[in-house]
Amino acid sequence: MAADETTIPDQHWNPFTQLTHSRREFLRNLSIAGMGSVTVGWAVRPGYSSSPVSTMGVDFLLNKEKVHLDIDPRVTLLDALRENLSMPGTKKGCDRGQCGACTVLVNGRRVNSCLTLAGLCQGAEITTIEGLADGDTLHPMQQAFITHDAYQCGYCTPGQICSAVGLLHEGHAHTDADIHELMSGNVCRCGTYNNIVAAIREVQINGSHSKTHHSV
Ligand code: FES
Ligand code: FES
Repeated sequence: MAADETTIPDQHWNPFTQLTHSRREFLRNLSIAGMGSVTVGWAVRPGYSSSPVSTMGVDFLLNKEKVHLDIDPRVTLLDALRENLSMPGTKKGCDRGQCGACTVLVNGRRVNSCLTLAGLCQGAEITTIEGLADGDTLHPMQQAFITHDAYQCGYCTPGQICSAVGLLHEGHAHTDADIHELMSGNVCRCGTYNNIVAAIREVQINGSHSKTHHSV
């Protein structure tokens, strides 16, 4: 048995998130993305020798808009959104899959974008917090967060809302305890958990979450 198989758990590496990315999966994806390189350029970082950097093309739908990127295959979806696509609504908290601040919806499924390689999103439908509202009309989950005062500093809120939308689409939450458990991958350092659950329950009871899968 290889050394990493004894030292790196294949699942449940992250005790905080219910998402399915494991460290091994992340590293495997990094290798696969690297094999898809189509262009070679050069990058020089201060203090390092110059080294070749491959880029790859990727096309996906972002908030219903077609997007094409030529990116380093090592770039995460989180960094691509924030740095390449000027979508700063998705927040970087831990950058290692432990806080949920970076949660977005990929094909309707909530994922930690800091553990998702942008290069592997070919053909995906990605929804960020910027894509939930319908013009000037807030998404029901956004409105419910306001109604229930489900935030203080707001840093975790985009991830909380995207995760809540995904949660209701999954259909596994039947009680407040279920919601607490299934939202446990999204940390709120301000401790607004009870208000967040109240907001999610309101949307669930009103049945408004059927709208949430509109673009994914
Ligand atoms: S920034 Fe991705 S989980 Fe914390
Ligand atoms: S509202 Fe401040 S971290 Fe959640």
